[in-house]
Amino acid sequence: MPDEPAGARRAPYPGSGLDAALLPTFTAEPGVMPGDRLPEHELAPDVAHQLVHDELMLDGNARLNLATFVTTWMEPQAAALMADCADKNMIDKDEYPRTAELERRCTRMLADLWHAPDAATAPGCSTAGSSEACMLAGLALKRRWAARVGPGSGRRPNLVMGADVQVCWDKFANYFEVEPRIVPMRGERYHLDAEQAAAHVDEDTIGVVAILGSTFDGSYEPIADICAALDDVAARGGPDVPVHVDGASGAMIAPFLDPELVWDFRLPRVASINTSGHKYGLVYPGLGWVAWRDTPALPDELVYRVNYLGDEVATFTLNFSRPGAQVAAQYYQFLRLGRDGYTRVQQHCRDVAGRLADGLAASGCFRLLTRGTELPVVAATLDPAITHYSVFDVSAGLREHGWQVPAYTFPPELEDLAVLRFVVRNGLTHSLADQLLADLQRVLARLDRQPGPMRDATDSSFSHTGAPSPR
Ligand SMILES: Cc1ncc(COP(=O)(O)O)c(C=O)c1O
Repeated sequence: MPDEPAGARRAPYPGSGLDAALLPTFTAEPGVMPGDRLPEHELAPDVAHQLVHDELMLDGNARLNLATFVTTWMEPQAAALMADCADKNMIDKDEYPRTAELERRCTRMLADLWHAPDAATAPGCSTAGSSEACMLAGLALKRRWAARVGPGSGRRPNLVMGADVQVCWDKFANYFEVEPRIVPMRGERYHLDAEQAAAHVDEDTIGVVAILGSTFDGSYEPIADICAALDDVAARGGPDVPVHVDGASGAMIAPFLDPELVWDFRLPRVASINTSGHKYGLVYPGLGWVAWRDTPALPDELVYRVNYLGDEVATFTLNFSRPGAQVAAQYYQFLRLGRDGYTRVQQHCRDVAGRLADGLAASGCFRLLTRGTELPVVAATLDPAITHYSVFDVSAGLREHGWQVPAYTFPPELEDLAVLRFVVRNGLTHSLADQLLADLQRVLARLDRQPGPMRDATDSSFSHTGAPSPR
């Protein structure tokens, strides 16, 4: 079928002699929305805007999306600032030196927040998100290993990580030809522990990835213990393996809510840390950050240098062009909130997560894996006594009330474990959480009359990979 049926649709516009501005908006719509071919003719901007806007009405409400860690609300002033900077390309450091300066300030502030020995000189940069940041950190680890074993060794590098890693680490291993040495989850252990990390390293291990805030349940991996176990391996003459901390979410939670927890550059074994500016950094997507503890942690041959303002700036990115607006918005948040403000916002999220956890526990229908005491994330499985509906039924029921709460199974070896996960972000208030719990009660009451489960993992479109199986 042609995109544009001949005749009727275009009668008044263009070529009708009528000014497009006189046409009632919806009478100017194309008969069929173009999908495969660029349309032949123009539309008036108001009409095009309305049509695209209307198509997007069918997306879920971002504020009710409890599947994502990514920011869905910013203050109007921040949104205005982002609109002001929409035309700035982050790579044009010469042309937009103030944007480049804001990036430098944010990088230094993060290195300082994460206790780099010398935050002023610690290398770091902004990225499109944590995925790009993890690729860069992984590449630095791989180059350090290659320098250690020497050229043409024919040896195969490996990266040790828990089965709870986010898909970006599978991608890193795949794209950059590193063996992903994945430590399976077992029993009640849902993430990497020190003993298993140490047991899996060898002379070809480029690094261990430790996650501050598992995507699966929001729990922190025991980073200090993992480092201590690796210290022990090295002290006994084994390999000296650096650690990368994937703090996509937790690196912007722990510094404010758990200042006594030692997980960052205070541990000499931690070589690099990433975070998503667009998660608990509180900026709209897409922004990530990566910092190295010092210049030796980032091999020089990976770094490109540009000159701006008479100064040499090191760049290390996969992309060339990238939006500058997110960086300006990150600096706005740092300036606007400071340590106090971040602490208040993240504590509020943790409190709301605690309220959700209490409500879920009080329903008597769930066993809680996490209660939002680390990342503000609550993961819950059904009480074993409940056999007549599934977490996938609960997720679908909540969707009928507008809430998007993902249900998914855990990785291999624990794939019988199916959970619901509630991610609390800035903007999910106590009153919205109460509304969610009230809707959940209605869903559970209806599901109680159901004879047996109606949905399983194959009915869930949510996945940690974008592919059918999680991770
Ligand atoms: C632990 C962890 N690492 C990496 C990522 C990838 O982050 P991004 O979406 O910023 O690329 C995520 C995303 O949820 C994550 O949770």
